[in-house]
Amino acid sequence: MNKKKLLFVCLGNICRSPSAEGIMKKLVKEAGSENNIYIESAGTSGWHEGELPDSRMRVHAKRRGYALDSLSRSVRPKDFEEFDIILAMDDNNYHILKNCAPNLECEQKIYRMTDFRKRLKYDHVPDPYYGGADGFDLVIDILEDACEGLLDAIKNNKI
Ligand code: 4NP
Repeated sequence: MNKKKLLFVCLGNICRSPSAEGIMKKLVKEAGSENNIYIESAGTSGWHEGELPDSRMRVHAKRRGYALDSLSRSVRPKDFEEFDIILAMDDNNYHILKNCAPNLECEQKIYRMTDFRKRLKYDHVPDPYYGGADGFDLVIDILEDACEGLLDAIKNNKI
């Protein structure tokens, strides 16, 4: 497996992308691939800079076995050079990232998280921030499925 650096990106970096980070870190640890896969997350906005993930997201993640402890930060220009695979949670995040990429090589690092889905037929990870409890569980369902697919793709040198 080639060594990879992954960056998960959503809007606020307090719900979806820190969940993706926590879920993927656990999966990678279970696969014994911690030395080969480095993981961070970030937001297209800096609205929650320095904050822990949303408390509702943390509660739902904890129930499903994930401890979320990253601090929110916004996407930085150097991320496009430093990371190998950049994963957008929805179309809005995806288009912002594509527009900010400094060159074609960096642009080609950007994917939609749901490009890696295996079982669940979602084309984006819905923003749970203004919704109810079900939205937070759905985020975890979609991300568990897509993280599995992402790890398969990396292991098989597909990306
Ligand atoms: P996230 O969710 O992008 O999954 O972290 C949101 C977090 C905060 C806001 C919107 C979405 N907000 O409007 O502050």
